[in-house]
Amino acid sequence: MRNKKILITGGAGFIGSHVVRLFVNKYPEYDIFNLDKLTYAGNLENLKDIKNAPNYRFVKGDIVDAQFLNTLFKNYKFDAVIHLAAESHVDRSISEPLEFVMTNVIGTVNLLNAARAEWKDDSTKRFYHVSTDEVYGALGDSGMFTEETKYDPHSPYSASKASSDHFVRAYHDTYGLNVVISNCSNNYGSHHFPEKLIPLAINNIKHNKPVPVYGKGENVRDWLFVEDHAKAIDVIFHKAKSGDTYNVGGHNEWKNIDVINLLCKIMDKKLGRPAGESAKLITFVKDRAGHDLRYAIDSTKLQEELGWTPSLQFEEGLERTVDWYLSNEEWLRHVTSGEYMKYYDGQYNKR
Ligand code: NAD
Ligand code: DAU
Repeated sequence: MRNKKILITGGAGFIGSHVVRLFVNKYPEYDIFNLDKLTYAGNLENLKDIKNAPNYRFVKGDIVDAQFLNTLFKNYKFDAVIHLAAESHVDRSISEPLEFVMTNVIGTVNLLNAARAEWKDDSTKRFYHVSTDEVYGALGDSGMFTEETKYDPHSPYSASKASSDHFVRAYHDTYGLNVVISNCSNNYGSHHFPEKLIPLAINNIKHNKPVPVYGKGENVRDWLFVEDHAKAIDVIFHKAKSGDTYNVGGHNEWKNIDVINLLCKIMDKKLGRPAGESAKLITFVKDRAGHDLRYAIDSTKLQEELGWTPSLQFEEGLERTVDWYLSNEEWLRHVTSGEYMKYYDGQYNKR
């Protein structure tokens, strides 16, 4: 692909900013357009290192606005879309489900319509939807999600992502649109909004605030370093066949309480605290409603067919993540000073 115009949605968010940075730096021959509404979770500070790159442009806009999208596609003649824009936090979806339907379902269908109207039958144009392993539901003590696992979403967030996946596949099957979907496990790394478990815990430990662990901390998540996810998206975008799906994950399952204990150990070391000091902040709180017990991704298909492998061990990735948060106080202060965190603190106390 030379001189392609690629629209990346949600590029000011956590994963999107890593994908935009990778594509802008690795492919100077592509023009990268970052479309983002800049909700509480989107922050242009995430991309300050590449904001003046000649092949990068930011467009502020809402994917729920179909007319805006149609004009955008007409004006810029994109060759491909990598769609990450979404409401992404499960707890928020429990209190505000409709916002998730609007952005994740209606927003995705608006994008599909805008792409189809512009691209017509041109199968060289690609629509890549970045999705989640949560569409598969919850596992018991054993087994893993494969690409064949039946969809069984439980939260309003995962229901909205499952719905958007179904629409993307329907546009392939019905209209012949060139689509690809990937379903990834939990990401961690820099620029992660501190409402999610790992950055929330780092921030709270740093400020000597309670670290809320839902239920008994027995739930299991399968953690992948965000830069490894961005590299997987690069490989899948370029190599996958139209209509195909790939699971992305690092074979890295951890109980929440073990993640938090490991983080506490790292934080004690980094902050020069006596061993065991940060762990005193662990506070068991009311469980999340409908809390999925365990996620585990089988990414054999991606590893064998497309040659992707995760590069980083969890302990090393966590330490790098802690280092990033400790040396980016201004970023943390900025993103936690907005309206949303006030709302968030209130929610936490009510749980
Ligand atoms: P995030 O919440 O950090 O970022 C989402 C971005 O989308 C933000 O920049 C936000 O401003 C933007 N956005 C939200 N609503 C919008 C709208 N209506 N119009 C335009 N932009 C809008 O999310 P993330 O964690 O980076 O996740 C990105 C994508 O990856 C999501 O689709 C999510 O479902 C998926 N995913 C996330 C994870 C994870 O662990 N975080 C794992 C697998 C898949
Ligand atoms: O699996 C992929 C998904 O991972 C993505 O699709 C979502 O966008 C992303 O937010 C993430 O969802 P989770 O719900 O797994 O992530 P979260 O960080 O919110 O929670 C991780 C685990 O930690 C989960 O079992 C709930 C628990 N938890 C979370 C928070 C915020 C706590 O125990 N305490 C907390 O304060």
